[in-house]
Amino acid sequence: MKTILILNGPNLNLLGRREPDVYGARSFDDYLQELRAQYPDVQIDYFQSNHEGALIDKLHEVGFTIDGIVLNAGAYTHTSIALHDAIRAITAPVVEVHISNVHQREPFRHQSFISAACRGVICGFGLDSYRLAVEALVNSEK
Ligand code: DQA
Repeated sequence: MKTILILNGPNLNLLGRREPDVYGARSFDDYLQELRAQYPDVQIDYFQSNHEGALIDKLHEVGFTIDGIVLNAGAYTHTSIALHDAIRAITAPVVEVHISNVHQREPFRHQSFISAACRGVICGFGLDSYRLAVEALVNSEK
């Protein structure tokens, strides 16, 4: 059985309440139940933190053993060289995801410091971005 971690960064604990016109009205816990039901043969672990260092610690903790990581780094996407380095440091493939299409938004969201270290990038499909990333990891070799 493959194990995949979904790692959510800052402010994503507020999904469902935060800017619902941009991020939707659904909580992540609710969505996660549905996603797990869609992949009964995959263990989907979940961790969220508002703290950059906690995200890096989690990448280090699981990044040498797990089959893949789906990472929505939130605003750290656009600022964090430390996350870039952490993704490069581990062996598990990381897929960068965004709920919104960051390229249709403010210019400061057009740059990602983590994309170059990731296996691939999925953005703009709402919460379905996570499923698409899981699908990509399930189908890919390490
Ligand atoms: C986001 C996009 C980021 O620019 C923003 O800071 C977020 C969420 C997304 O999922 O669309 O927090 O990563």
